[in-house]
Amino acid sequence: MTAQTVLQTPTLLIDRAKEAMQKAYAPYSHHYVGAALLSEDGRIWTGCNIENAAYSPSICAERTAIAKAVSEGARSFAAIAIVGGREGHITGSFPPCGVCRQVMAEFCCPDTFLVFLGTPTGFETHTLRELLPSGFFPSALQGD
Ligand code: THU
Repeated sequence: MTAQTVLQTPTLLIDRAKEAMQKAYAPYSHHYVGAALLSEDGRIWTGCNIENAAYSPSICAERTAIAKAVSEGARSFAAIAIVGGREGHITGSFPPCGVCRQVMAEFCCPDTFLVFLGTPTGFETHTLRELLPSGFFPSALQGD
């Protein structure tokens, strides 16, 4: 399936994020999060949050997905779907944390990259620029 087809039907990506959420390892917060990252070539990379007894080594679902993709050679991304909630129950949108927004900024065009946030009844759509206004992007280091 092409990335364009998936973008026309974001529920496909939301459903993959929901599947990934089932894999969450969250014995401390009890909040399960799933992400599904769409690369420009149409591949979908999923991730869940993975917590740790020492807390700070924990990783968010979004960064799990991005790390999987980048470590397999993918660098160009079109969108990400994110769902989350206590014990996996989606009661509202589960927005990405600031660290995940910054990691998205490293690889994703802020004006075209779409962030779909799953809700109990559907999804919200944001651009990365909306979620990270006045952000620090790789372009800030150009011309050094
Ligand atoms: N979490 C994510 O997976 N993504 C985010 O962007 C926000 C927070 C996880 C981290 C932790 O395991 C749990 O949600 C509660 O903060």
